[in-house]
Amino acid sequence: MYVFETIIALKQHLDQHRKGDQRIGFVPTMGALHEGHLSLLQAAQEQSDIRVCSIFVNPTQFNNPDDLARYPRTLDADLKLLEEAGCDVVFAPSVQEMYISQPLLTLSFGDLETVMEGAFRPGHFNGVGIVVGKLFNIVQPHYAYFGQKDLQQVAVVKRLVRDLSFPVDIVRCPILREPDGLAMSSRNRNLTPDERQQATELYNALTLAQSLLQEDGDLARAKDAVANHFAQKPQFQLEYFEIANADTLQPAEQLQAPGMTALCIAAQLGKVRLIDNLVF
Ligand code: PAF
Repeated sequence: MYVFETIIALKQHLDQHRKGDQRIGFVPTMGALHEGHLSLLQAAQEQSDIRVCSIFVNPTQFNNPDDLARYPRTLDADLKLLEEAGCDVVFAPSVQEMYISQPLLTLSFGDLETVMEGAFRPGHFNGVGIVVGKLFNIVQPHYAYFGQKDLQQVAVVKRLVRDLSFPVDIVRCPILREPDGLAMSSRNRNLTPDERQQATELYNALTLAQSLLQEDGDLARAKDAVANHFAQKPQFQLEYFEIANADTLQPAEQLQAPGMTALCIAAQLGKVRLIDNLVF
């Protein structure tokens, strides 16, 4: 496995593979890797000849400096996991390498970012769009793999690709869950043992809402049930629970076509912000 810290060295290496007509699969990450990330790499394994993974905690997508400071950084363990998982190339640049200067460009994703994560984390998708655009230009992948856990991010990245004609296919990969249902996330490492036990309540709320909706399709009843679920759990601060279209992320007024209803949730538990979703 090759590890590069500079853009120029990475590009020189990948250019050789491109000349050999090899397909490049790319998994962008912020490190603190878990099985969810490895499942993205596994998907890349099936479709591409060369697997590239980036590890970069992107400061421009954090709207909260404490969240950035607390974001887990575990580079040595990450490299070991990637090597074992059959990754070919890792790109782990410094902040200076990625941002010679603060970008002047700002990206706005219209309706896609006025809801949920966009509404609660102002500027977040501008930062994601900028860094993903830069990484696509640096790596020039044929395929790029993103987890459904960040459903709104997938929609934003697809729109970025469409609007700027990046020649890359975006692949959405399923959420991986712990045995009790908690969606895997790098932030889970920051939960105390007690919080870790309680954290499964997000998934419990999603499955509760899903089963109610499957009974009678009553959106208001499902929303009330989730609100009541958390009303009895003061350790959580529920930020939102939305029933939305899985592509547009706009609030739904009724159940969508099969596979297109997204239940999305975000809550603060202690110092950790958790998100999750279910699409059915
Ligand atoms: O999902 C993430 O880890 C990040 O948002 C990404 C896509 C690597 C961009 O920094």
